[in-house]
Amino acid sequence: MIVDPQSMAPISINDLIPGRPNLTDIYVKLSDTKYVRLYKHGENPDMDQIESHQRRELNHYWVKKQSLHLFTLRNISFAGAALKHPKVTDKQKTKLVLKASNSLFSEISNIGFSPHTYLRAKALIQVNQEYLHSYKNVSEVINLLTNFDSLLFKKSVATSFVSVMMGDQISHVSTYALNSLATGSLLRDVGLTQLPKAILKMSFEDMNLNNRNLYLSHPIVGHKMLSQIPAIDKKALDIVLQHEELPDGSGFPRHLKATHIHPLSEIVIIAGLFADFTVKTPEYLNPMTPKEAFIHLSENLGLTFSIAAISALKKIVSL
Ligand SMILES: [Fe+2]
Repeated sequence: MIVDPQSMAPISINDLIPGRPNLTDIYVKLSDTKYVRLYKHGENPDMDQIESHQRRELNHYWVKKQSLHLFTLRNISFAGAALKHPKVTDKQKTKLVLKASNSLFSEISNIGFSPHTYLRAKALIQVNQEYLHSYKNVSEVINLLTNFDSLLFKKSVATSFVSVMMGDQISHVSTYALNSLATGSLLRDVGLTQLPKAILKMSFEDMNLNNRNLYLSHPIVGHKMLSQIPAIDKKALDIVLQHEELPDGSGFPRHLKATHIHPLSEIVIIAGLFADFTVKTPEYLNPMTPKEAFIHLSENLGLTFSIAAISALKKIVSL
């Protein structure tokens, strides 16, 4: 098949799940413009073939960029399903969740961030996730998130990614604070896992008073759940509590105004909105480009964020 190389995206060969049907066609690259299809949509990747490619030091397969989000979602849903299985060991569960995050990293790298920023954030987040998974309690919380809703997990990883990239651009944010950012942003919505799943499918306008109150309490519930875990630091906990606040005081649960929102929480608030606008999902098939999302966030929403945070976002979208 001869294609425009811009329309193809690499996936790590390690992120394929052998013996489970793909949601996308998978290709091997022969040259810059020539690709040959290895597996059709719906076919099961073969472990022997994957291993033989690995022995020949083939590190990547390729998918069409337009269907990369389906590959990612497939891995996240598979991790979620496997986590429920009683025979899957804790170690295997951790491996699956990391595999799911990794395939999301490939997707984010194709959105259009500068490669240097992206690679540094990826390294920081991978180390942070491995650290978090080494604590059984934190690992259980991450599994809860993956297991609850694959899209929620996808948005959480994307938010974590953008938060770390933004934090890395701000000179007074230390490496220690970058880890708090990675943790707090990844776990910010863990309180949602305690709500009936049907609430997540409703718009806020369609919720009755009881459901609204439950929804509005999720930052407090998440904060309470994570406060029990010593491996989660105070800054990460503050992020979880404040991640739904907005600088004009219209957020929740405490309607904090800009001056009372912690700078790290502000980064996560912006990164969360940015992920909402840019991450492709089956319900949101035409996301904004990073540049469009930046303009929407900084000009159209009518929210006044700090100059430091907005400049950091501007830098990572290379404007
Ligand atoms: Fe939230």
